[in-house]
Amino acid sequence: MTENKRTTRTVTDAEMAEQRAYTEQIAAWNAVYAAEHGTSRRYYVQTFGCQQNEADSERLAGMAEAMGYVPAAAAADADLILINTCAVREHAEERALSITGQFKHLKEKNPELVIGICGCMVSQETRKERIKHSYPYVSFLFGTSMLYRMPEILYRYLNEHKRQFFLDAGDAGNIAEDIPVRRGSNKQAWVSIMYGCNNFCTYCIVPYVRGRERSRRPERILDEIRGLIAEGYREFTLLGQNVNSYGRDLDDGIDFPDLLAQICALEGDFRVHFMTSHPKDASRKLIDVMAANDKAAKHFHLPLQSGSDRVLAAMNRRYTIAQYLDILAYMRQKMPSITVTSDIIVGFPGETEEEFEETLEAIKAARCDQLFTFIYSPRTGTPAAELEQLPDDVKGDRMTRLLAVQNEIMLEKNQACVGGIYDILVEGISRGDKTMYAGRTEGGKLVHFPADEALSLTGKMVKVKITAAETYNLWAEII
Ligand code: SAH
Ligand code: SF4
Ligand code: F3S
Repeated sequence: MTENKRTTRTVTDAEMAEQRAYTEQIAAWNAVYAAEHGTSRRYYVQTFGCQQNEADSERLAGMAEAMGYVPAAAAADADLILINTCAVREHAEERALSITGQFKHLKEKNPELVIGICGCMVSQETRKERIKHSYPYVSFLFGTSMLYRMPEILYRYLNEHKRQFFLDAGDAGNIAEDIPVRRGSNKQAWVSIMYGCNNFCTYCIVPYVRGRERSRRPERILDEIRGLIAEGYREFTLLGQNVNSYGRDLDDGIDFPDLLAQICALEGDFRVHFMTSHPKDASRKLIDVMAANDKAAKHFHLPLQSGSDRVLAAMNRRYTIAQYLDILAYMRQKMPSITVTSDIIVGFPGETEEEFEETLEAIKAARCDQLFTFIYSPRTGTPAAELEQLPDDVKGDRMTRLLAVQNEIMLEKNQACVGGIYDILVEGISRGDKTMYAGRTEGGKLVHFPADEALSLTGKMVKVKITAAETYNLWAEII
């Protein structure tokens, strides 16, 4: 359990070939159905989690399409529904269970409908049991390490007419390459570089549901990115729970800064983001590589969690606020234009008013461009869930105060951008205003600008000058 090498298992070519055989069998059944009905069977994937889960959902979609399913516009039109769950906070689990509940009437209308649940939530024994008993219309469950076996699981369900339960065994983990993928965008791509987590922050369920850290081989990652560049992709986000520990389980001495440098050295016009970085191992070497490479996006997501050293220690984060601010200062000295984002948890068990105020002081000192703020949510099986919990009203009040302080910082920082020139990647027409386009700066700031729809700028890079700022939005004109 302590050494990655002992638990990492690469799924063999023979095992992947077996999955392809199941895929072909189901594709053959679906082809018969399509010929008889004049329409193909449809699939729908509902995702609840983080970017890693989104990347997994792109693989679920890829496998479904390889099996002959076509995308459904809505769950109600689907023959196969896959619910990819998250367990990080109670709210995420409740949403997944509530959606699953709503799908019951679809199954009643269409008994042929197949509903599968996967992702982090089902890898917990208690959840598995609950779904097994309270949601009898769910056809199969599978854990995150079983993703590549989805064709087999579906085949078994269709063939045996029996519910299937393929769950991760303890802290198992594997690496499966060459799973079909249907990406959600043709410009931006998620690239998982590693899976799992070894850090066991005391509040966090991820290490229990995603298994131990395991790194993909660098040549596989480079090949994938090379292929994506050739297809026209311009933005890559390298994914891992702690990308800074990339390579520790490999035998070739490569670390994350080396990998990033190798990716930046690839031919082509693109930029590379990564997440997430744990502050305890965000090294100066990494910052030097970012600073030296134009293709490394000048954005750093560095979750602080708390501004109190006592709380950080209780969270098992293994850095102090002074160390955090030190790495931030080095980053800003090397890359003055860097955008920094962070995560904060309020209401960790035992957090005192003074300790919370230390968090407010810390975020004033850090002046991040954006914060993702969370109310602590006890997760069964984690050490912090056993501690005495704070009342909900205290947690809620702290959240409100935290947001007020951060909003002021964000407004000031956005106002400082006015007059500045930025390259932005255009995401599409603005949601709120059809006459405007929306895009993001390298650091992920949302920018709106007027443009003629006929220009069809979506997916392109444009240079803009910022003309106005609010807390969450910037306005600009093309130059
Ligand atoms: N591996 C990443 C985080 C993944 S979870 C990292 O270490 O930064 C994303 C964020 O969810 C965490 O940074 C944390 O702020 C928040 N989070 C995790 N567990 C939580 C819990 N039990 N309650 C509230 N927030 C939580
Ligand atoms: Fe959770 Fe900590 Fe691992 Fe991030 S580093 S996934 S917060 S245990
Ligand atoms: Fe991600 Fe949620 Fe799992 S944050 S790793 S989907 S628990």
